[in-house]
Amino acid sequence: MTETVKKLLAQRALEVRQFSYSPYSGFAVGAALLCGDGTIFTGCNVESAAYSPTSCAERTALCQAVSAGHRHFLAIAIAGGPAGKPPVSYCYPCGVCRQMLREFDSGKLEILLVKTPEDTTLTTLAELLPHSFSAADL
Ligand code: THU
Repeated sequence: MTETVKKLLAQRALEVRQFSYSPYSGFAVGAALLCGDGTIFTGCNVESAAYSPTSCAERTALCQAVSAGHRHFLAIAIAGGPAGKPPVSYCYPCGVCRQMLREFDSGKLEILLVKTPEDTTLTTLAELLPHSFSAADL
């Protein structure tokens, strides 16, 4: 991923984070998912009073993209931390989101963890979810 794309994805994740609906945790997350054709879909976390129906930002973005007909993804940027403040640390995707992203990964999905557009770190889904279970195992 080029530095320009990194910055753009980071900005989009930080922007959408402002819409996070997180009254229970007070932890606001934004995600920006880059499709193979260059389209970017964003999502924030959406919580529920029943807690478990909560959608993480990553899955919100993924469902938006898939619902618009996209299934090929190159990268996802994630920015999370206490609501109302800039992220203080890198927010790694939860286990459920790692598995859900794996559904559409061909082994190359890049994951950009964002504090600011200038302060990011890059990893891969393969690194975060080694020895994963996927459709190929069925
Ligand atoms: N959350 C995300 O949206 N993405 C993550 O990667 C970690 C956790 C959300 C879920 C919940 O709304 C809040 O952050 C606290 O766990």
